[in-house]
Amino acid sequence: MKFFVDTADIAEIRELQDAGLIDGVTTNPSLITKAGRPMRDIVAEICDVTEGPVSAEVTALEADEMIREGRILAEIADNVCIKVPLTLAGLKACKELSGEGHMVNVTLCFSAVQALLAAKAGATFISPFIGRLDDINLDGMALIADIRRIYDNYEFDTEILAASIRTLNHVREAALIGADVATVPPATLKALVKHPLTDKGLENFLADWKKSGQTIG
Ligand code: E4P
Repeated sequence: MKFFVDTADIAEIRELQDAGLIDGVTTNPSLITKAGRPMRDIVAEICDVTEGPVSAEVTALEADEMIREGRILAEIADNVCIKVPLTLAGLKACKELSGEGHMVNVTLCFSAVQALLAAKAGATFISPFIGRLDDINLDGMALIADIRRIYDNYEFDTEILAASIRTLNHVREAALIGADVATVPPATLKALVKHPLTDKGLENFLADWKKSGQTIG
């Protein structure tokens, strides 16, 4: 499973990239606005930090305008992945932009049939939003499982990018189901490494080692 980090914060991305933890980055208009700088500058900087796909989202609602914006975003760097919403216009833009050879991430997916349409439109990634479904008492993980089964049934190449991840258990379950990628907020990604028994075990080992009086080198 690949990990993308879901943020537009360059310092966080650099730290996680240096640690070898990420394979790409996802942003959205809310995250770009939070970063408080021009989108093109942010996306260019992120693409310098990571070689993996960097999702940058169009903001138009009409297909022609989405395609125009998508082409502008794709010019920023070779690893830009154009993100379009799961609407009729978004699917039309996806078909056109993927046909031109661009990576396309179809976002805001909340149903398995939406995911089926995105795959047929040539999406590189489909982004089902787990957390936002759980927020309204629906089952985000069941959606990931349904999409996995449908994509396997028809041998679609579109990668399932589990999004709106809020917990470590979301990551675990998405990996068990076979999502290709999880996009995870920085704090959650860093929390994946933590376990109290790891900390306790290390403390005990080092206490015993100190008693031995030895050094390794
Ligand atoms: C995915 O690409 C989105 O940016 C993201 O995962 C949305 O997560 P949220 O529901 O926590 O805002």
